[in-house]
Amino acid sequence: EKGGYDYFMLKEIAEQPKAVADTLLGRIGAEGQLTLDELRIPPQVLRMVDKVVIVACGTAFHAGLIAKYAIEHWTRLPCEVELASEFRYRDPILDARSLVIAISQSGETMDTLMALRHAREQGATVLAICNTNGSTIPRESDAVLYTHAGPEVAVASTKAFLTQLVACYLVALYLGQVRGTKWADEILAVVGDLARIGEEVERVLETMEPVRELARSLAGADTVLFLGRHVGYPVALEGALKLKELAYMHAEGFAAGELKHGPIALIEEGMPVVVVVPSPRGRSVLHDKIVSNIQEIRARGARTIVIAEEGDEAVVPYADHLVRVPATPTLLQPLVATVPLQVFACELATARGNEVDQPRNLAKSVTVE
Ligand code: M6R
Repeated sequence: EKGGYDYFMLKEIAEQPKAVADTLLGRIGAEGQLTLDELRIPPQVLRMVDKVVIVACGTAFHAGLIAKYAIEHWTRLPCEVELASEFRYRDPILDARSLVIAISQSGETMDTLMALRHAREQGATVLAICNTNGSTIPRESDAVLYTHAGPEVAVASTKAFLTQLVACYLVALYLGQVRGTKWADEILAVVGDLARIGEEVERVLETMEPVRELARSLAGADTVLFLGRHVGYPVALEGALKLKELAYMHAEGFAAGELKHGPIALIEEGMPVVVVVPSPRGRSVLHDKIVSNIQEIRARGARTIVIAEEGDEAVVPYADHLVRVPATPTLLQPLVATVPLQVFACELATARGNEVDQPRNLAKSVTVE
């Protein structure tokens, strides 16, 4: 049932191009309009929404952090993202004009369930983005958008994450469509980019051997740091989480702009630092700033592992290891940039002799608060 792969995780990583396509299936009309009728939230309710709040845990939380950039950019609605476990304990401000999005692969995560119950008690509309049909979180929500990634068995989430991102992009565009901040031609352009992403992910998967080799060479490292900016920041957090749960290594993700406010003191000779570089085309200011960051950490001895778009030559002189990903629109880059980090963590776990599909102390769905 592992389809010839040693681990479910490897199988699920390989299934990502199809999973991403399946999330899009049947949701885009001929004129580029999104048909999310399954949402069952009346358009007049969506037009009334004055803020979006995303609640989730772990990897799903990272998907939420990325969704915030898309939602704010495409809808101009303020969007907060909160760890589900913290949410209700701080008495969040919610009312009938709040749209709460609960993201969960399993649909059974107790922290997320309690957060959405709290939100509904305050009168908010709750939309679940979920991978498991008929699970508790969608059943208790006002509406659900299923990710259709297929069953995810490995404890470490991979294809569920990519499809959560696609579902979040669809929700953001749909909100834009209904509220009139995003027009059919613009939506069509993004949808076209999304439709191509499966192939781009496939291309990334085909070039992963050097990443596996690099991971094996780092089996003895104590700490790996991850840096990113903009949507690359949650990607850095996700890369670090994967490494913690699979390789049992100390790993931290930072916003690259925060380096100078503390974390740069951690850099030691030979310390591996993975840097997710934004596109030089889109937000070129951020690109240039992160290139300076790479220079700074390298000057302090870091071994730099740079994930950068094809054609980005500015990073070449400062990359000890360069991992290329296809050029994508800025907001969609996490769909390709996360993949090498998944492969990296999986291979490092294997090299350290760890159980990839069932990491110690973890369960696939966390049904206690
Ligand atoms: O089933 P959920 O998406 O609600 O699970 C949330 C987290 O427990 C989950 O993403 C966890 O962080 C994964 N093991 C990460 O790989």
